[in-house]
Amino acid sequence: MTKKAAAAKSSAAKKPKMLIAGNWKMNGLRRDLSQITQLDRQLNRSRPALDIAICPPATLLGAAAALTPKIVKLGGQDCHPQMAGAHTGDISAEMIKNIGGRYVIVGHSERRQDHGESNALVAAKAEAALKAGLVAIICVGETLSERTKKQTLRVIGRQLQQSIPDRAEPGRIVVAYEPVWAIGSGLTPTHGEIEQAHGHLRKGLVEKFGPKGAAIRLLYGGSVKPDNAAEILKLTNVNGALVGGASLKASDFIKIIKSAV
Ligand code: PGA
Repeated sequence: MTKKAAAAKSSAAKKPKMLIAGNWKMNGLRRDLSQITQLDRQLNRSRPALDIAICPPATLLGAAAALTPKIVKLGGQDCHPQMAGAHTGDISAEMIKNIGGRYVIVGHSERRQDHGESNALVAAKAEAALKAGLVAIICVGETLSERTKKQTLRVIGRQLQQSIPDRAEPGRIVVAYEPVWAIGSGLTPTHGEIEQAHGHLRKGLVEKFGPKGAAIRLLYGGSVKPDNAAEILKLTNVNGALVGGASLKASDFIKIIKSAV
């Protein structure tokens, strides 16, 4: 079968289960753990047919796991490419798994920008995540200047190719498209722009993994809020969301989750 035919066949395949993941970034003190309890309690009543995760700061991960949430899965926001060693301040994927994490975000644009992380480093982190038994949420996204110069598809296509480890198991990776300029700004791309970016990423995943690439979840992230989530989550090739600010309060996050079902 040609790659084109494989892509067409796979796009008709069953839709992947949605994932709504919250990224608390450098926010959250012990008192905020009650948001996870509240969220889990509400979700345990409605039991939506989708996956929910919260990635709190590493300082809260152990305490969040000790709450033994039934529906909400936990994740880290970053990991080191090695499992252990002399790396002051870093956290390994094995440590995240050991404390009860299921997911880890790698290559978030804030890490790429604040810490100069390259695609190669992101791929090494994702590889460590997979080795530790975590699901890696690999982030890609263009800056405003790249969008203005019409480089979006080229940039995210390259990030996708270079940030996914060669031996990745498709079932254990999630890709998040997060335009840098949309993060925390209240701005979002148009629906057409999101579909174009996600379509391009889907094509890249199918080229890389064959039909299995069609089952990899593609999340949209960047100013997802209760009032825009329903429309975004309906778009073609959008299989969930990575939510920053609006994941901090259970009352907002639950509205986003409800709009996905
Ligand atoms: P935001 O962040 O929802 O606050 O825009 C999204 C993210 O950075 O993952």
